[in-house]
Amino acid sequence: MEQSVKDQVAIVTGSAQGIGRAIALRLAQDGMDVVVADYREEGAKRVAEEIQALGRRSLALAVDVTRAEDRQRLFETTLTTLGRFDALVNNAAIQRVAMPLDVTEEHWDAVMNVNAKAVYFCCELALRHMLSQHSGRIVNMASLAGKAASTPQHPVYNVSKAAVIAMTKTFALTYAAEGVRVNAVCPGIIETPMQDVVDREFASVTGKTPLQIRNERVGRVPMGRIGEADDVASVVSFLIGPDSRYMTGQSINVTGGMITY
Ligand SMILES: NC(=O)c1ccc[n+]([C@@H]2O[C@H](COP(=O)([O-])OP(=O)(O)OC[C@H]3O[C@@H](n4cnc5c(N)ncnc54)[C@H](O)[C@@H]3O)[C@@H](O)[C@H]2O)c1
Repeated sequence: MEQSVKDQVAIVTGSAQGIGRAIALRLAQDGMDVVVADYREEGAKRVAEEIQALGRRSLALAVDVTRAEDRQRLFETTLTTLGRFDALVNNAAIQRVAMPLDVTEEHWDAVMNVNAKAVYFCCELALRHMLSQHSGRIVNMASLAGKAASTPQHPVYNVSKAAVIAMTKTFALTYAAEGVRVNAVCPGIIETPMQDVVDREFASVTGKTPLQIRNERVGRVPMGRIGEADDVASVVSFLIGPDSRYMTGQSINVTGGMITY
């Protein structure tokens, strides 16, 4: 039987802002100590202070998840400083706009390195530790885009998120009998700094205003509103916690009904 998460330690990548910040704060509210790992150092420090104000331990680490030495340092420092490691949320990602035939190899590598390769190798480091202690949970941040390729202006992002869903299933099934669970979350349109950038970039390639783009996108949501970062964080909290103990290999949609598979 899985234990309560109270006093356990979680790492959340890309948690200096947006969905990652909301996840880090929610896990702290759940009673976890949280490592805030992001290459935006100032933002990471601010989030760590918010967590400490909630009465939990927190560590802000300046980490570029694409760098092997940073990933190694992230896991080693977590263990040496906080003394244990129970859960990983692979949340860091980037988006780049280009129509499918305009993608360069540089664009492909940039997006795939953060969104797919770094997620894979963070899972690898986490799993080595989790398998040795016969317990642990990983949640990977995928996207609606990984299932529906919903925006052709983000071709490599779509590919990267499909890769996240595939690696989630692969790790989950390989280690399902070892006390380790691996799941993914697929957000739809969530209000974060990333979405403001998307609105502006789509506007620049379509000739529409960012507000027009935003209104069109909201119009595609059956529940009629854009999601909030907390809407995603609460599902991550469930997947990290013991109430989801019989779930692994799943990719859960948090899309206000935009997709149903
Ligand atoms: N916002 C949405 O609508 C939406 C929808 C679907 C999926 N997602 C996914 O949710 C996650 C969070 O998205 P968000 O909207 O909060 O994005 P965001 O851009 O607001 O935040 C992403 C964070 O990741 C960090 N980051 C990026 N590259 C990094 C690297 N190499 N090393 C360390 N940190 C790095 C950034 O500094 C930033 O703090 C992402 O995986 C994204 O793909 C978001």
